[in-house]
Amino acid sequence: MERTVKIALKDKKMKGNRKMLSSLNSLLAEELTAINRYMVHSEMCANWGYLKLHMALRKQAMDEMHHAEWLIERIIFFDGAPTVSKLNLIKIGKTVAEMISNGNEDELEAVRVYNEAINTAREVNDQGSVELLSMILKMEEGHVDWAEMQHSQIEQMGLENYLASQSGIQVN
Ligand SMILES: [Fe+2]
Ligand SMILES: [Fe+2]
Repeated sequence: MERTVKIALKDKKMKGNRKMLSSLNSLLAEELTAINRYMVHSEMCANWGYLKLHMALRKQAMDEMHHAEWLIERIIFFDGAPTVSKLNLIKIGKTVAEMISNGNEDELEAVRVYNEAINTAREVNDQGSVELLSMILKMEEGHVDWAEMQHSQIEQMGLENYLASQSGIQVN
């Protein structure tokens, strides 16, 4: 009797579509990679005294952390196993210009893969994932926008002036 109840309860669990789960896991690898890149870049900027850049990159690392958290939550909701050990290539820049350029490249890729995953979610009729992924996509577009803004500023004011504008007073 008890066994029947247990089986019945288990059967009622929300199971994720395999294609959707694999898509969510590949987005998770993209997010974990971005967290690492932003954290390293943010600390490099702190070390050079570019404190405004440090804070901006740190904030983006935290955005990516939220994305990773939401994806993990969704995968577990679907009774899947989040893969947290896989990272893509972490593109660490040696200079501020390289950091911004690498970040821009990865954020454009993020926009592409989120759009693709939203299509997958639509295909498998998973409206909850469409909504979650669309919300994250908007934030990734914001990250692209930030990187493009830095590019424009470097172009317009020159790298040296841009860097001067990013330094600040160390408070601790
Ligand atoms: Fe993200
Ligand atoms: Fe991002």
